[in-house]
Amino acid sequence: MTARRAQPQITEIADLTFPIDLVRDQFASLSVTDDGIPRVYFDTPAGTQVPRHVIDRTSRYFVEQNANSGGYFRTAIVTDGVLEQAHEAMADLLGASSAAEIVFGQNMTSLTFAVSRSLGHQLSAGDEIILTRMDHDANVAPWLLLARDLGLTVRWLPFDKETFRFKMADLESLISSKTRIAAINYASNALGTINDVKSMCGTLADAEVLSYVDAVQLVPHRLADVQDLGCDFLSCSAYKFFGPHQGILWGRREHLKSLNPYKVRPASNDLPHRWETGTLSHEGMAGTLGAIEYLEWLAGEVEADGPNTGDRRSRLAVAMDAAERYERVLCRQLLDGLAAIAGVKIYGITAHDELVDRVPTVCITVDGVPPDEVAKRLAAANVFVWSGDYYAVEVIQHLGLQDAGGMVRIGLAHYHTSAEVERLLTLIDDLT
Ligand SMILES: Cc1ncc(COP(=O)(O)O)c(C=O)c1O
Repeated sequence: MTARRAQPQITEIADLTFPIDLVRDQFASLSVTDDGIPRVYFDTPAGTQVPRHVIDRTSRYFVEQNANSGGYFRTAIVTDGVLEQAHEAMADLLGASSAAEIVFGQNMTSLTFAVSRSLGHQLSAGDEIILTRMDHDANVAPWLLLARDLGLTVRWLPFDKETFRFKMADLESLISSKTRIAAINYASNALGTINDVKSMCGTLADAEVLSYVDAVQLVPHRLADVQDLGCDFLSCSAYKFFGPHQGILWGRREHLKSLNPYKVRPASNDLPHRWETGTLSHEGMAGTLGAIEYLEWLAGEVEADGPNTGDRRSRLAVAMDAAERYERVLCRQLLDGLAAIAGVKIYGITAHDELVDRVPTVCITVDGVPPDEVAKRLAAANVFVWSGDYYAVEVIQHLGLQDAGGMVRIGLAHYHTSAEVERLLTLIDDLT
């Protein structure tokens, strides 16, 4: 193996005070090896690894607390308490004013299908909805099917293929007196772009258009604030932010109260339970609570004053801020390293002064090596990346890459190291 590529400047990493070794100690999976070869989990946008807080919460749930909810005996009472705590923790993570606005469900896709069906009761043929070319299909297909069922007109918001961003003027031009709902993307699972959702929601609200925000790829990297955004609904998935496989929806209280959910008759009509149909994944919710407790632990490690200062929301802000700054340095190393490899094309924001507008999810193509082949060759070296469209069907089509097999996706999280990024870069360099 020859080092054809100049070594990137990573001195900034050494200057960071981020407690990367302590962080990695929390994630047992990071030290798993196969035939002595360490794993590198750059499949982050498809699901993150989980810290011990999640594993402990989940196994404790099964050992000590396991029951259905609503009973008079010990485990049922404790279960109700855990579920309540999970709602409260999620309200703090998303900046919700009340835990009653937090709905747990199987995953983001199922929650989006559920809400879109209920919103459909308010729509009629000829009404218009706005969808985007940047969204994951989970925030496209439910609305397309609703449009098919009700005879709605779909207006598409494109993204600029040079800047990988939306243009506000395009959004404004799509809104008419018939527009009812816009389903928009906070952070792209392919391009990594973080969209100016606050401005978009402001424009939509001025025109009395409801906004449904997919924040699945934002929440692992930034602290969302539903009240500041001014959106109507926002969804995310715990397995993308270090928790178990499960989805979470935030909805404005007035919508969650006035809309009609599809529910069984004996289920409570109170918020948020009227939206949480059937028995929830109690162990999953315990694990999601654990993921948020992990972030609180991280705050304690990076905060000058030590743990337990401020309220939970401000501790979460401290943790996410430290993680973001660390990730940005790694992302820069990755982008600069990729840019230095002949034949590699990056699809997304690369300018150093614009990195604040992206999550560290980087998509590339490699000249002469199809995306699946790149992923297979990296997998052979125990470096995990994704290839294809990862359900970002609209993105791939808009870029005209469907026949080329999509793109290779490399996703970083705050538990990755500069050495892992370097290992990936060397492998990609050796492909060309
Ligand atoms: C941006 C985005 N939205 C939605 C989803 C779907 O989430 P879930 O698997 O929870 O349905 C994903 C999953 O990859 C995603 O990346």
